[in-house]
Amino acid sequence: MDKSSPKEFEFFNAILKGRVAVVTGASRGIGRAVAKAMASAGADVMINYVARAENALAVAEEIAAMGRKAEVCRANVARPEEANHLIDAALSSFGRIDILVNNAGITRDGLLLRMKDEDWDAVIEVNLKGAFNCTRAVAKPMVKARWGRIINISSVIGLMGNAGQANYAAAKAGLIGFTKAVARELGPRNITVNAVAPGFILTEMTAGLPEEVKQRLSERIALGRLGEPEEVADVVVFLCGEAGRYISGQVLSVDGGMLL
Ligand code: NAI
Repeated sequence: MDKSSPKEFEFFNAILKGRVAVVTGASRGIGRAVAKAMASAGADVMINYVARAENALAVAEEIAAMGRKAEVCRANVARPEEANHLIDAALSSFGRIDILVNNAGITRDGLLLRMKDEDWDAVIEVNLKGAFNCTRAVAKPMVKARWGRIINISSVIGLMGNAGQANYAAAKAGLIGFTKAVARELGPRNITVNAVAPGFILTEMTAGLPEEVKQRLSERIALGRLGEPEEVADVVVFLCGEAGRYISGQVLSVDGGMLL
């Protein structure tokens, strides 16, 4: 969108005006970009983090500088009682929740034959059960309000698989089935549920990849480069705005044309 035209700039700034968003794992990477994009579109934001409170507070300060409200809440989304606490804290701080972005995620890569039980369990518990815990907790207030947007951050790996990531691929593919089931369940209450499937995005999660691996990956991407967190965040904002009101149960790939 051309933000230089005052009318369109105003529109872009207003698409989430009056909304309240909860973003999990929002102290860095894609979650941080989503929290900031939500705020620049007019929403107030609850920033969830599990470690490094100082990073979450820094995101909250950036959002406050944009003139929006932001709170931080420590919660391990893999634990149901902590996910419930996150949603309760957002409700008591802001009085409502319109948007939930299930972004928190981890990797514990390893080849199948050597994968430890704890690496399988940890990835499923954070990436898949974490989204279930938060969605279940937020469903009640959203159903009551007859309005809601839930976005699950899946991955291109959930669509195509990847050697060494059986746990992560299973969790991210599981999120897609979860998205479709919950979209059917909550759709009659005017709540949309969608998955966004990023390709390779430049964050701390991918920072460890050697340069030659990034180069080889880029060659498999139509746009010839890895993505930026903001490029995922803009799509999340689009789905949460009025323009996304008739989109539900979908998987939107944001991968620069990697999986074609
Ligand atoms: P990141 O590692 O930079 O950020 C993940 C965030 O989740 C961190 O802030 C971390 O503290 C938080 N987190 C981890 N476990 C948590 C828990 N139990 N409770 C609450 N928060 C927790 O990763 P990145 O790259 O920003 O990824 C964000 C999401 O996007 C993840 O779900 C990831 O799987 C997904 N994704 C990332 C891609 C990439 O290339 N970076 C590609 C496709 C999907």
